Amino acid sequence: MDSNPPKKNLAASTLCCTFGQLDIELDVPEGVWNPTPHGILLGEVLEKMDFSGESIIELGTGCGVHAVILGLRGARELLLTEIDDGVLTHAKNNLKKNGIETKIRFLVADWIQVDASGYDTLVANPPFCVAGKKYRRYFIDTLILDAHKLVRPGGKLIFIHSSMADFPRTIRLMEDCGMTVQILGEKECAFRDYYFEDPTFMTEMDSVADSYTLRDGVHYERLMVFEGTLPEN
Ligand SMILES: C[S@@+](CC[C@H](N)C(=O)[O-])C[C@H]1O[C@@H](n2cnc3c(N)ncnc32)[C@H](O)[C@@H]1O
Repeated sequence: MDSNPPKKNLAASTLCCTFGQLDIELDVPEGVWNPTPHGILLGEVLEKMDFSGESIIELGTGCGVHAVILGLRGARELLLTEIDDGVLTHAKNNLKKNGIETKIRFLVADWIQVDASGYDTLVANPPFCVAGKKYRRYFIDTLILDAHKLVRPGGKLIFIHSSMADFPRTIRLMEDCGMTVQILGEKECAFRDYYFEDPTFMTEMDSVADSYTLRDGVHYERLMVFEGTLPEN
């Protein structure tokens, strides 16, 4: 047995995923996030939508699963960002493997620090449990607060997070930023094992109202896909 097995959701794999009508095959090397239940629910929601003619930016594209779906659902143009070039190379391979011919730009960027503007839609599955930040909502809050820099007036922000990141707080912040909020999808799922690896995570989650439920010894979180329509001006 490997004495140092890959942790969290970062083991190498080839995945065959079905999202509604779409069958997608993804190579996910060790160290790149495999789609988690969050990534899968976001993919299921995106698969049902029509992005014909849209310019779309995805922050933290990972293995590129959502970019593949957006391409297959008509996106005219994609800008895909990641924290390092290696991850982007794998996303590139997956887009090619799935025959995506959309015009795509790949960019190494630190989350919202992207030199771009005027996109029709911004898509993201922000880090939270493994955010590497003392303030775990950092990636969620910056996404909401700075969406207007990347998205045109009247454009959309679509993203997912867990009940542990506090749904009401997110909706309040989106509304404070003048967005019209819609919930596009919701699902309950069991915790992943690595949630218990960081004891401070569970302590913090205990202080968030309705962050999780415990039934028959199993912890469950809820996942929600949010859509915010930015104000026209
Ligand atoms: C929760 S994963 C989502 C990956 C993929 N979009 C999915 O849903 O399967 C968050 C992604 O954000 C990227 N990321 C983390 N910190 C980042 C940062 N500071 N700037 C840009 N991307 C970052 C990670 O590399 C990771 O791929």
